[in-house]
Amino acid sequence: MSDRTSPYSPIDPRGWRLAMGLRPLDLAAWLEVDEHRDAELALKRQLLANAFDVVVATRPAGHEASLELLDEVRANLALHHPDVATGPSLDEHPVVAASRLVQEDLCVLVRDDEWRLAAACVCFPSRWNLATKIGTTLDQIHDTVPYYDEQLAAPTRSVFDRLGPERSFWRLNWTLIDSSTLHQPTAARRSPEGDLAQWFFRVERQTIRQLPETRAVVFTIHNYVTSAQQMCDVEPDFAALLLHSLDTAPERTLEYKGWHGVADRLRLVLEERGHGRGP
Ligand code: HEM
Repeated sequence: MSDRTSPYSPIDPRGWRLAMGLRPLDLAAWLEVDEHRDAELALKRQLLANAFDVVVATRPAGHEASLELLDEVRANLALHHPDVATGPSLDEHPVVAASRLVQEDLCVLVRDDEWRLAAACVCFPSRWNLATKIGTTLDQIHDTVPYYDEQLAAPTRSVFDRLGPERSFWRLNWTLIDSSTLHQPTAARRSPEGDLAQWFFRVERQTIRQLPETRAVVFTIHNYVTSAQQMCDVEPDFAALLLHSLDTAPERTLEYKGWHGVADRLRLVLEERGHGRGP
């Protein structure tokens, strides 16, 4: 899945920082369809056949909202991607049926005392494990993320409470990782070894929208994985921006991301190539 260039390159030129980075979402752009659709849907079918319990987790509280999600996915594809075939669904949980139709991973959150993950089909996790997150709150889902508690927990809860069917958002997360494999369900914080050709720039395009009937929130994640070498080839500033982020990330973030020693390795590679200066 690495023979593409990411359509998104969200490295902040000011250096590493945690940010909400929410932008208003036009529902015409809720789901993205690209030339990797057939391959990614085939991979989903394979994972659903062979690793169902790793990629799907549901609670009864998420069932009704998942039915609404399936309807919304079908309607959205029919309206905005009419060339994409959707066919009849199998007799299975609606979050799974919906997920088979799109490249995105799908998470349904329902509010009781707090917003909780109530149903999800996540075939392409970026080193996290769905079974440990199902039924938990936004804060608990993120308790592994350095500085989330101090910097993002309150604003994220507040955004969820202020969503509406006409008020949706999207945001980007990125990481540097040592594998182009989309399905990475274990939290191995390995540092990328070797050279730019063996490193991958992994961008998650995430959307957050509230369904009009059940008022559940749907969180979608679309992964774009590109070789770091390719990013450098197509984006002249990429290496310098990446190096600046690695240099400014705090210790706990380096640990969480598996980035220890990566800045020094990147600096060496860039010096050998004669363009190592940060912005
Ligand atoms: C405004 C909403 C949200 C914000 C600002 C946010 C922010 C973040 C950030 C900054 C990270 C760290 C990623 C990294 O640096 O590699 C993260 C990780 C994660 N987020 Fe969110 N997130 C949001 C909503 C959600 C929702 C709704 C879910 C529901 C499933 C979710 C699930 C996760 C998971 C599973 C991880 C990985 C945690 C781990 O490594 O154990 N996020 N999020």
